[in-house]
Amino acid sequence: MATRIIGTGSATPAHVVTNSDLEGFLDTSDTWIRERTGIGSRHAATTETTTSLAAEACIKALEDAGKKPEDVDLILAATVSPDCTFPCLACQIQAEIGADNATAYDVNAACAGFLFALNSATAYIECGMYKNALIVGAEVLTKIVDWNDRSSCILFGDGAGAAFVEQADTGVVAMEQGANGKKGMVLYRYERPVQNPFCEKADEEVSQGSGFLEMNGQEVFRFAVSQVPESIQKVLVKAGWDISEVDHFVLHQANARIIQSIAKRLGEPEEKFPMNLQKYGNMSSASIPVLLDELNKAGELKRGEKLILSGFGAGLTYGATALIW
Ligand code: ACO
Repeated sequence: MATRIIGTGSATPAHVVTNSDLEGFLDTSDTWIRERTGIGSRHAATTETTTSLAAEACIKALEDAGKKPEDVDLILAATVSPDCTFPCLACQIQAEIGADNATAYDVNAACAGFLFALNSATAYIECGMYKNALIVGAEVLTKIVDWNDRSSCILFGDGAGAAFVEQADTGVVAMEQGANGKKGMVLYRYERPVQNPFCEKADEEVSQGSGFLEMNGQEVFRFAVSQVPESIQKVLVKAGWDISEVDHFVLHQANARIIQSIAKRLGEPEEKFPMNLQKYGNMSSASIPVLLDELNKAGELKRGEKLILSGFGAGLTYGATALIW
């Protein structure tokens, strides 16, 4: 028994922010951003929320799969930018789309979140606990980046991508995932500090981080280009596939240079590594499912083809999944 992706969907905010728009209030340039990252524009929520984008992506994934909301057994939502800390995004999606028979909770593995959710759903389905799952990565990162920090804010965008998966004869073949919490503080965002009437300095201003996403870009870059190829090699061994058999490598869309470097390290042609970060920037957990949906809807994925999905992100978290489309 396996877990197969049956339908996909995605949603992005209407407002597009180009690199030239950023030149208006940041000391940056379209040339610098394109050369260092490959990004040309990103979408920014103005009226949309994490929940509204996620729900739209989920409805489209269900339509693509030919399913109704009441058919869903499990909703797993991956996000680091929910509308509320609680209730969780997955419960909000459940209410929004009317998936009343589903159980629902969130996964926080940052940019590897969709991959971890897919792997979790696969484990549930393979053990027989659920027959299907709706998995979604959704982010409104533009509300947590510091728009005065040119080294990070230029990278990120908002959006959501979803996939409906169910029990099938073929689908996910092998999974690989891991974490390195000791390196966690190269990419982080603090919550409110501990401050209550019982603290010694209850009246003093307590500061812990800026409240925005904070990042050591070069450390993240080094982590990605070494860890992702290793995860991919490991999942290929588990799947029993030779790398040349893989038709598409659907990687987290953080930076074109990271993806090109990974392709080079793996000795595979860049054409096998589709990218959409030019249009969307880094949408964290939404990057992989939005790309997957675009490839699916464009007819670029043929049933029976071999795919490797791979993500990495804050945590630090990383992983790869080998699947038959
Ligand atoms: N415009 C113009 N100049 C800039 C900008 C900008 N937007 N940002 C930084 N610079 C400047 C710096 O100030 C520095 O100037 P200096 O030499 O005078 O000090 C110079 O450019 C070089 O800065 P670096 O940080 O060395 O630039 P680098 O080539 O490393 O590129 C970048 C920075 C794009 C952030 C790169 O490190 C990167 O992509 N890292 C990975 C980040 C990432 O992908 N994060 C998210 C992944 S995990 C997740 O998805 C949550």
